[in-house]
Amino acid sequence: MTPQDASQICAEVCALAPVVPVLVVKDVAHARPLAEALVAGGLPALEVTLRTPVALDVIREMAKVEGGVVGAGTLLTPEDVIAAKAAGAKFGVSPGATDRLLDACEAHDMPLLAGTSTASDVMKLLERGYTVAKFFPAEANGGVPALKAIGAPLPQMKFCPTGGISLKNARDYLSLSNTLCVGGSWVAPADLVEKGDWKAIEELAREAAALPR
Ligand code: 3PG
Repeated sequence: MTPQDASQICAEVCALAPVVPVLVVKDVAHARPLAEALVAGGLPALEVTLRTPVALDVIREMAKVEGGVVGAGTLLTPEDVIAAKAAGAKFGVSPGATDRLLDACEAHDMPLLAGTSTASDVMKLLERGYTVAKFFPAEANGGVPALKAIGAPLPQMKFCPTGGISLKNARDYLSLSNTLCVGGSWVAPADLVEKGDWKAIEELAREAAALPR
């Protein structure tokens, strides 16, 4: 897959809803109802982080949920890419970008939202042909003013900022011309997942899905 094709697919994923839930799921039994609640609330694109031992099984389960588009987050190595693809991930997300990871994603047809935090990171991805990236960790990197400032000389790159974003500040990011959507874990808080309060999560998703952009 070329970087151009990868960015096209990532742009389509980002267009699905204003928010991509970032999910850390510890129990496979939570996968289906959690994905169903988020999709029902209007958030079809889901990022399952590869940060728990069951993450690949969670992706496999969530991939069965109708209307969902499940991606794998925290892709760090070529092995992660291969395993995520085999589990059914339709896109990948990484905190940063290395040539090794980008090579693997291109070789294995995994559209990647690669992490950037500086103008140089963005320039490297643009040189390679990517036009969609993650901005991470968004708030710690200077938040909306930083992303806006990066967009001035580099308007070709569009972003999914992630890290420290909530319902409170999501609107400000979404109003930027270089922001397609935001990523965030606030729509699936650990306590609600543990309790299995899928109705509450569906409500959080609905609120997030209604954010203007
Ligand atoms: C993460 O690192 O887990 C993601 O960037 C999500 O960050 P958040 O919990 O601040 O939304």
